[in-house]
Amino acid sequence: DGKYMVSLIEGDGIGPEISQSVKDIYSAANVPIKWESVDVTPMLKDGKTVIPDSAIESITRNYVALKGPLATPVGKGHVSLNLTLRRTFNLFANVRPCKSIAGYKTPYDNVDTLLIRENTEGEYSGIEHVVVDGVVQSIKLITKDASERVLRYAFQYAQDVGRLKVRAVHKATIMKMSDGLFLSLANKMAKEYPNIEFDAELLDNTCLKVVTDPSPYNDKVLVMPNLYGDILSDMCAGLIGGLGLTPSANIGDECSIFEAVHGSAPDIAGKGLANPTALLLSSIMMLQHMGLTEHADRIQGAIFKTLAEGKTITGDLGGKAKTHEYAAAVIKNL
Ligand code: IPM
Ligand code: MN
Repeated sequence: DGKYMVSLIEGDGIGPEISQSVKDIYSAANVPIKWESVDVTPMLKDGKTVIPDSAIESITRNYVALKGPLATPVGKGHVSLNLTLRRTFNLFANVRPCKSIAGYKTPYDNVDTLLIRENTEGEYSGIEHVVVDGVVQSIKLITKDASERVLRYAFQYAQDVGRLKVRAVHKATIMKMSDGLFLSLANKMAKEYPNIEFDAELLDNTCLKVVTDPSPYNDKVLVMPNLYGDILSDMCAGLIGGLGLTPSANIGDECSIFEAVHGSAPDIAGKGLANPTALLLSSIMMLQHMGLTEHADRIQGAIFKTLAEGKTITGDLGGKAKTHEYAAAVIKNL
């Protein structure tokens, strides 16, 4: 029927409520998408966390998935499902833009950062062991292949969107070998893109500078190893109002998963108080990725208009609206 199938992982906690907002807005906007609900309840197989075959089949078949928050246990317990998904589908690049929301006041104006995070290895490789009692070792794994893959993606992305400055963020002063490898590959790749201005910056310095004055980052694509990107992307999100407002895209060769970065917020789950904006904006990245740019622009415009009006916004933004009231306001603004 000319519709695209998209796998939908509603997620835990507030996941179903914010997913409902996306579904409602998409049907009101006549987006040619059919949602295929996917269950990702984890299973243990040979001591490893795996997701059900039906989920893998759905996402593989549909190439794109939208994902709500999945709770990640701290310390002991199963491996994060979020990571299992990234690993299962080899989603090697995580794209995280943070753009100021008109009408939502923060200490910074016109923030527009763009961060690309290596998404499969580094400290997230999951290789940890007790050496002797009281001494543990967690391995940070950096490979040439994964580094080149994400660097290539970043340079190509910069090229494609015309944001022609790439900056590698690293700590090669201390992580001489691992970050040293990442950095040298970045330098090498930069030579293949003579029209892109390339430089590098130490992570701690980036943190200091971005919270002091984010504006010099408005024309750059930042690319970095996994854990640095995890931390720095939250810092950038803080500049514009937090994780309730920032989207993210996990890009792979075979498929891509678009996800809100925030948690499952069990304290407000089921109460209709959650802000669906991050998931909505992630879905906009998905529409752009699918080439449905007109729908993307239209829905994004309605979201920004609703937020700028500031009348029908959720509690986290200082408003009183319920999740479904906010969604209804977005629909009105389509
Ligand atoms: C993120 C999250 C995840 C991460 C968690 C939920 C495993 O914080 O997407 O940034 O650490 O990558
Ligand atoms: Mn994070």
